[in-house]
Amino acid sequence: MNISKVWLVLIVSLCTLVAQGAEPSCPMDLRVRNFNSGWKFCLGDSPEAKETTYDDSGWRALSLPHDWAIEGSFSLDNPSGTGGGALPGGIGWYRKTFRLPENIAGKRVFVDFDGAYMNASVFVNGTFLGTRPYGYASFSYDMTGCLSAGGSENVIAVRIDNAEQPNSRWYSGCGIYRNVWLRIVDEVHIPKDGTFVMSEGSMLNVETNIENLSQKNRKVRLVTTVIDAGGKEVASVSSGKKLPKGKCTVAKQSVNVRNPKLWDVDSPNLYTVVFSVIDSKTGKTLDTYTTTTGFRTFRFDAVKGFSLNGKAMKINGVCMHHDAGALGAVVNTAAITRQLRMLKDMGCNAIRCTHNPPAPELLDLCDRMGFLVMDESFDMWRKRKSAHDYSRYFDEWHERDLDDLVRRDRNHPSVIMWSIGNEVLEQWSDAKADTLSLAEANLILNFGHSKDQLAGEGEEMSVNSLITAKLANRVRALDTTRPITAGCNEPNPGNHLFRSNALDIIGFNYHDDWFKDVPKNFPGKPFNITESVSALMTRGYYRMPADTMFVWPERWDKPFFDSSLSCSSYDNCHVPWGNTHEGTMKHVRDNEFITGQFVWTGFDYLGEPTPYGWPARSSYFGIIDLAGFPKDVYYLYQSEWQREKTVLHLFPHWNWEEGREVDVWAYYNNADEVELFLNGASQGISRKTDDRLHAAWKVRFEPGTLTAVSRKDGVEIARKEVRTAGLPHHLRLTPDRAEIAADGTDLCYITAEVVDKDGMVCPWATDKITFSVEGTAFNAGVDNGSPISHEPFKADSRKAFYGKALLIVQSNGSEGVCKIKASAPGLESVGINIKTK
Ligand code: GAL
Repeated sequence: MNISKVWLVLIVSLCTLVAQGAEPSCPMDLRVRNFNSGWKFCLGDSPEAKETTYDDSGWRALSLPHDWAIEGSFSLDNPSGTGGGALPGGIGWYRKTFRLPENIAGKRVFVDFDGAYMNASVFVNGTFLGTRPYGYASFSYDMTGCLSAGGSENVIAVRIDNAEQPNSRWYSGCGIYRNVWLRIVDEVHIPKDGTFVMSEGSMLNVETNIENLSQKNRKVRLVTTVIDAGGKEVASVSSGKKLPKGKCTVAKQSVNVRNPKLWDVDSPNLYTVVFSVIDSKTGKTLDTYTTTTGFRTFRFDAVKGFSLNGKAMKINGVCMHHDAGALGAVVNTAAITRQLRMLKDMGCNAIRCTHNPPAPELLDLCDRMGFLVMDESFDMWRKRKSAHDYSRYFDEWHERDLDDLVRRDRNHPSVIMWSIGNEVLEQWSDAKADTLSLAEANLILNFGHSKDQLAGEGEEMSVNSLITAKLANRVRALDTTRPITAGCNEPNPGNHLFRSNALDIIGFNYHDDWFKDVPKNFPGKPFNITESVSALMTRGYYRMPADTMFVWPERWDKPFFDSSLSCSSYDNCHVPWGNTHEGTMKHVRDNEFITGQFVWTGFDYLGEPTPYGWPARSSYFGIIDLAGFPKDVYYLYQSEWQREKTVLHLFPHWNWEEGREVDVWAYYNNADEVELFLNGASQGISRKTDDRLHAAWKVRFEPGTLTAVSRKDGVEIARKEVRTAGLPHHLRLTPDRAEIAADGTDLCYITAEVVDKDGMVCPWATDKITFSVEGTAFNAGVDNGSPISHEPFKADSRKAFYGKALLIVQSNGSEGVCKIKASAPGLESVGINIKTK
C-alpha cells in the first residue's frame, strides 16, 4: 500500500467513526497533533520566562485548555466588574518543554492556537513570534526557524495579558482557554484553513491553496477525493499544478457527487473531502489535508422568509456566549455537546455565536448535530463600549481578524450567514459609551438615540457607512455563498450600517414595534431578528401575580434594586428594550417575512447580571440556567418549536403558605386543552389562545397533589403531577450518562437534589451538599445556577439552590469506575458509580 492509500484508509476509518456519532478528540486534519499536555503555568508577570534557561520547576503543571479566572474568587474589586463576571484578570505565563517527534529536515513546524484571552505573546526558544490581541481569534506561528531538531529540548512560552479591564461586556476568561495543536508538514503543503469547498447542486467547487516553501519550483498533482459518511469514496478529481518556489498557488477544481444526501437540521449528512498533494516527479505524497462539507441550499427572502433545501422554515435560534458555567471559558467538547443536545431537544435549530468568533469545536458539532449558525466577528469596531475593549486594536487588526474568521469557518455547512458586528456604535454619527460604567454602557446601548445621529437619505456615505461596506466587502472577497448581516439596535433606515447598503440581511436586535414596518422601510430586503426577548428569570423563583409585568430596570440611569435579587419564572419580567418569550414568538409566528429569531440567550452566562449589580455576577437571560437546569420557559419553546415530542409542563412547585392564591401554568402541545385537578377536584379546563401560549389557573393553595391532564379530541394525551414536598430527607444523584470516555476530557454532569422521603424535590431546600469523587474521574466543578452565589466553582461542596445543585466530573484518562458520594448534614447521603471506558 502506498502512503496516500494508508492515509486514505486512516481517514476513512475516522470518517466512519464520526458518522457513527463518536466524537474525535482532535480535528480531522491528521497532520495535526494535540499540543495540550505538559504545560507549566504561573500567575503573574515574569518577563524572563520567555528564555529557554528559565527555571519553571516551581510552576504549576497543567494541561490546556485552561482558564485561571474561573479558579478565582468573586469580588467587587476585580477590575472586570460584575459585567465581566467579577472574577480576576491579570497576567499569566505558560511554558512547555517539548522534543520534536521526528526528523524535521524538509518540514515546517507550526503551532496553532484556537484562542487565548488575550494579548497572547508567543516565544519559542527565546525568540518572539508575535502577539495576538484579539482573545477570540485563532492564530498560528511557523516555529521552524527557532527549533532544535534531533531530540533536543525546545521551549515554547506564552504570555497572556488580560490585566486591563473592563475589556468585555461579559465574562471572557483568562488564559489559553482553547486547544493548541502542533502541525508538522512538508515544505510543500496546504496551509491551515487553506481550502474552500462550496457546494452547488451536486457539484463541489473547490479552491485549494498550496504553499511551496522549498527552494525549488515544483510540480504536483492535487487529488481531491470525496468520502461519504459510510467511509465510501464517492467522487474524485485530479489535476496537475506548477508551484513557483516561495509562493502560495491556488488550484481550482470541480467534482460531481451523484445524488448527494443533503445536509439539513434534521439529517445533518456530511461528506469528507481529502486533498492529497503528490510530487509529480517522485510520486510521493507531500501533504494530505481533510475537511468536511455538506450539500445544502438556503434562501433568505424578503417576503417568504427563510428556506433550507427549498423547504420553508423558521430560524428558531438562540444566542450563546462562550463560557461553560463552572468550567469557565475552557473549551470542552463534552460540555458543548451537552448544551447543544439540550437546545436540540428544545426544538432550537440555530445558534448565533455572540459576539465573537466561536471555538472550532462548536462549529464542528453544529455541522454534525444539525444547527444553523450565524458566525459573528466583533462586538465593537472603532468606538469603544468599555474602557479597554477591542476598539483599541480595531484599526490595526480588524482586517486580519475578520479574514481569519471567514477563512477558518467557511467550509462549515452549518454556517449560513456572517455577522460583521453587534450593536456597534457606528450605527450613529456620534455615540459614546466609554465614559460610563460597564453596567451603564450595557444599558444605554438599548435606550435609543436621537434622530440627528442618523444618516440622511441621499446624503454622501458617512465614514461609518464606509466602514460597514469595507467589512462586508472583505467578507465577500472570501465568500460569496453566504449573506452578510449585523446585529443592529437602531432599527431606523437612517442607521449608518443600513445606509451603506452593504448588508444582505436586515438584522434587528429587539425593537419589536419596528418589525411590522420592515417591508416598508427596507423594501426587498430579507429580515432576521438577530437578537430578541431578553426576558429575565431565576430558575425556581415565581413572582405573583403572574399577569403583572415587571420591566426591569426601569431606566438605564436610575439604580435598580429589588430585595429578591431574583427575576420571575412566569415570563413576566423583561428588560425595557426586550419582550416576553411569548411576545416575540408571536411576531415570528404571525409574519411570514420574518426569517426567525435568535433569543437572548440559550444558556445563562457569566457576567452581565442585568437588572442587578453586585452581589449578582451572572446573567438572568438564559432559557437554561448556568448549571444547565432548564427554567420553566424551556418547555414553552419545546411545546412551540417542535411537535415530535409531546410536552406537558406544569409549574410552579406545590409548597406554599396555606390559603395563598397561586398562579398555576402549563406549557403543552399536541393537545386541545388541559384540565387541572387539586387533590382530585377539578380546577377547570384551560386552553392556549392565539395570544396566550400557555394554560393558566389561579388556585388557592392547600397541600397535596396538583395534576394536569392534556387531551386531544377528548382523549388523554399526557398527565403531569406536582406534589407538596415534605421535609428534606435524603439526597438524590442523577448522572446525565452512566458511562463516559476514558479520554481525559469527557464529562459527566450529575444533578444533586434534596428530596423528601418519597423522592419529591424540596423546592426551598438550600442544604450544603458535599461531594466526594474517587477513581477514574475528578471533580471539575460545582454549581447550582444561582446568579448571586459567591461560592467558588472549584470546590467540593455547593449549597442547593431551589433544591438542586450540580457536580461535573471529568475523566482522568484511565478506564474503570468513578465513585461519587454526596452528603449533607441531617440528610441521608447517597453514592453512585459511573464507568469510564
Ligand atoms: C443586547 C446586547 C447583548 C446583551 C443584551 C442584553 O443589546 O447585544 O450583548 O447585552 O443586550 O439584553
